[in-house]
Amino acid sequence: MRRMKPLVNFVATLILMLAIACHGSEHGVNFNIFPLRMKTGSGGHYIPDVSCLSWRVGVEAHNIIDWKTVPQECEGYIGNYMLGDQYRADSKMVCAQAYLYAKTLNLTRDGRDIWVFDIDETALSNLPYYAHHGFGVEPFDRESFNEWVPLGIAPALPESLKLYNKLLSLGIKIVFLTGRPDHQREITAKNLKNVGYHTWKKLITKDPSYVGKTAVTYESAERKKLEEKGYRIIGNIGDQWSDILGTNTGNRTFKLPDPVYYIS
Ligand SMILES: *[C@@H]1O[C@H](CO)[C@@H](O)[C@H](O)[C@H]1NC(C)=O
Ligand SMILES: *[C@@H]1O[C@H](CO)[C@@H](O)[C@H](O)[C@H]1NC(C)=O
Ligand SMILES: [Mg+2]
Repeated sequence: MRRMKPLVNFVATLILMLAIACHGSEHGVNFNIFPLRMKTGSGGHYIPDVSCLSWRVGVEAHNIIDWKTVPQECEGYIGNYMLGDQYRADSKMVCAQAYLYAKTLNLTRDGRDIWVFDIDETALSNLPYYAHHGFGVEPFDRESFNEWVPLGIAPALPESLKLYNKLLSLGIKIVFLTGRPDHQREITAKNLKNVGYHTWKKLITKDPSYVGKTAVTYESAERKKLEEKGYRIIGNIGDQWSDILGTNTGNRTFKLPDPVYYIS
């Protein structure tokens, strides 16, 4: 059976190439978060490069750290992962586990049980930006990303929005804690409301005193302040390890997939 594999791969590659030749970039795939399409290939039919798959797993497991961009040879793979079904399925799994956990808690409903949500690639998705600019870009050095955020048109990551609504129905309060700077606070609030995040206990943006500090330092300090005010962080969800490492991380943490950028 093993010897069959190269042949199977070859035939599959041939079929894929034919499919691309037939459809080209006109191949329309309707994704919920973004009405965009990959320049080559299509979300569902990409043949993964196994080493890029290993790279992605290494990133998610936090074995690969401090990386600056997606490796060039994996840009196609990561783009197809992000725009295809697997990213959504992986996000759904994380949010489902978070809800399973939240449901088991015997909460007092005194308004002090909070769940910390990160914003970029957690509550909101910047996929339209990445789909347009490519997945190998250096995200935060780029002026173009700083032009995208103020548009305030990032869609919700649908799985996170569902979790948000379920947590609210359990009586849990939501705190958004983001690395977005204070001056993007208003547009961020507007964006959140526009896509369905209609209420929150706090929206914490990064004040200038944290400039030059890591996300771990900033977010730990802000979570500590929350606990000092008497809030109980029963859950914490983000797409970066820096959202869930450090101190005062909460009773349980949940890591959403993000193989597009790394923030320490
Ligand atoms: C839930 O908490 C209340 C108040 O602390 C307690 O009386 C009750 O027995 C708890 N229920 C369960 C199922 O643990
Ligand atoms: C959260 O952790 C604290 C400290 O370990 C513990 O006292 C508390 O009961 C936990 N709360 C929940 C909801 O598990
Ligand atoms: Mg994030």
